[in-house]
Amino acid sequence: MLGNFTYCNPTKLYFGKDALDGLNEELPKYGKNVLLVYGGGSIKKNGIYDKVVAILKANDKNVYEDAGVMPNPTSDKLKEGIERAKSAKADLILAVGGGSVCDYAKAVSVSVNCNDDAWDKYFIRFEDVTCDIIPVGCVLTMVGTGSEMNGGSVITNHAQKLKIGHVFGENVFPKFSILNPEFTYTLPKYQMVSGIYDIMSHILEQYFSGEDDNTSDYIMEGLLRSLIHSANIAVKNPTDYEARSNIMWIATWALNTLVAKGKTTDWEVHMLGQAVGAHTDATHGMTLAAVSMPYYRYIMPYGIKKFARYAVNVWGVNPDGKTEQQTAEQGLAAMESWMKSIGLVMNITELGATEDMLDGITESTLIMDGGYKVLDKSEIRAIYKKSL
Ligand code: NZQ
Ligand code: ZN
Repeated sequence: MLGNFTYCNPTKLYFGKDALDGLNEELPKYGKNVLLVYGGGSIKKNGIYDKVVAILKANDKNVYEDAGVMPNPTSDKLKEGIERAKSAKADLILAVGGGSVCDYAKAVSVSVNCNDDAWDKYFIRFEDVTCDIIPVGCVLTMVGTGSEMNGGSVITNHAQKLKIGHVFGENVFPKFSILNPEFTYTLPKYQMVSGIYDIMSHILEQYFSGEDDNTSDYIMEGLLRSLIHSANIAVKNPTDYEARSNIMWIATWALNTLVAKGKTTDWEVHMLGQAVGAHTDATHGMTLAAVSMPYYRYIMPYGIKKFARYAVNVWGVNPDGKTEQQTAEQGLAAMESWMKSIGLVMNITELGATEDMLDGITESTLIMDGGYKVLDKSEIRAIYKKSL
């Protein structure tokens, strides 16, 4: 049964080869001062920076820059961004990059006018925003997180060895996002497949929870099949527009809050992956890939019906003459061999984790209660051990 919910997604999307033209429609809605936020320089190499700045200038904006947002943006960088946004008197924060840049822009947007320490308020105490928010717009260059159409913001605090996400409300969602699949062509393959698995994980986190007959589960099975199909094409031919555009659109759907409505969700794989990330600074999607198979194999008996359904509807396993357990196991085996075939990292050792780090990583792992089994710390440690 669908539970009660309210649904609103205020982000306006511009999608396709001409999507950047949408900036000309959006910019007049905001004041003169634009804080242009970006990462380590990929947008300068691939020409996206020049295109964006030309449009900003043509719209008579004062452009201030905040560059160097690192993958897995840090609480220290956030402090710097707050100061930059303040001194620019920013009317709009324009994030040009991947999930890290978009997440960071949102974190800055809710912190500039906040008198409290932003890390403590939002990422430790999970408090609501109580100050004025600077609007954010995104030009997406890396696909995976869904940050372009949600209120999520994940910040890493290296001193505290914590990587934590705050899911903000609709007032923090980007006001608009520009999605041109061609902007993702220059992504290194490692990042592309990491993003592909991030998408898959977002869907699975919402799928493997609850046993109701829920429309969202049917939508998610379709998204997963399209993702697997398009990923197989994109790994062979990264400039296949059809495949890259499908992947970009699936990423947005996977985490724009729609499929979670009216159902329970898990998110334990993300908690496991984020703790690995907090200790290793590894690429987000790879941390998820590295812990997924041990996690899913461990919880499978507790959600056996759903795992068998997943095997049949997503991986095409023929259930005839098999027990539910055999069907479910075949589904996970198919998933594992597909993950290997597209080049995902399948263990945390390759990401820099060692056995002596496992107690610390376990300590940093948040425990969720929406999955098929609420884990305790010893079970979490055992999953990490299997992931080495
Ligand atoms: O910094 P630059 O030089 O731009 O390079 C980036 C970065 O090194 C590069 N890149 C991006 N677009 C490119 C490109 N290189 C060449 N061509 C392009 N077109 O890719 C690298 C990774 O970028 P990043 O933004 O870090 O990746 P991603 O989009 O995966 O974002 C990861 C962050 O998002 C968080 C993660 O935890 C992590 O901190 N997440 C945010 C979520 C949300 N807002 O809802 C949910 C996710 O589960 C996730 O946790
Ligand atoms: Zn993710």
